[in-house]
Amino acid sequence: MIDKSHPLSSLDDWEDDLLRRYPDPKSGATPQVADGSFVAPGTTFDSSTLAPARPADEFRDYAKEARASVKEFYRLNHHHQTYEFVESKRNQYLGLNRCRMGIWQTMEYLNTLVDDSDPDIDLPQIEHLLQTGEAIRKDGRPRWFILAGVIHDLGKILCLWGEPQWAVVGDTFPVGCRFSDKIVFPEFFADNPDSKNPAYQSELGIYQPNCGLDNVRMSWGHDEYLYHVVKDYLPQPALYMIRFHSFYPAHREMQYDHLMNEVDREMFQWVRDFNKYDLYTKRDERMDVSALRPFYEELIAEYFPDSLCW
Ligand SMILES: [Fe+2]
Ligand SMILES: [Fe+2]
Repeated sequence: MIDKSHPLSSLDDWEDDLLRRYPDPKSGATPQVADGSFVAPGTTFDSSTLAPARPADEFRDYAKEARASVKEFYRLNHHHQTYEFVESKRNQYLGLNRCRMGIWQTMEYLNTLVDDSDPDIDLPQIEHLLQTGEAIRKDGRPRWFILAGVIHDLGKILCLWGEPQWAVVGDTFPVGCRFSDKIVFPEFFADNPDSKNPAYQSELGIYQPNCGLDNVRMSWGHDEYLYHVVKDYLPQPALYMIRFHSFYPAHREMQYDHLMNEVDREMFQWVRDFNKYDLYTKRDERMDVSALRPFYEELIAEYFPDSLCW
């Protein structure tokens, strides 16, 4: 039986399904470029050389084989993520007046998220965060990059405040304009009330050409929320990684270029660079949380105050 408000047995089911849609090109886990070669870790690559999106029939196979729970999750997400819904969540959360917590404290708080996943199989959330940070660290990337990796999913604490899964995780996309048919399960947008709003039916909808993503309303989730919490403290590429890491329609499917400005295009090279760590570092390998803690506490203190507004 699929629970209608929480169809996924674990938030990680969404990410596991992303791995099915975008399999690791090779165990080195680096993005493939058009000539079939691979980008060396640490290389900033030109997005124009990325391999084109997978052929349509592969995408259909992906959709056909998706688990019923994942499909239900996307059905709810695409039905309910309207412009109005996004505005209401922004009003509810972006005043950042719920509590004050330090970053490590928030990592421990996220770790209290209890879902229906199997504790013998699924690692605690904090170990997933550390896996991403450690993979970036092993590749010798900048310290702010490691920090972005270790915190990028902290916005999932929205689940602890009663938000349904479909309003916390899932691929993100702009609202206020036509939904791209390259968004996963595009057919589910037929039930979205915005699909009947005449103002939102063109490619640009309510936006100006190349207005920049900062002026675009994205579907609501953990990415946008965390961006607002940390936006005063991290360098711009880290903020793009955090804000747009679930924007698969853009960073993987190359959609919505007409809304991007030059800064977005440049920064999306970092978002793509980050995506390989986000997608391909989840392994069964356990993390020694107490041994790693001093390194991360020091890194956190380099960029953040002792407590932040959430
Ligand atoms: Fe995420
Ligand atoms: Fe993630």
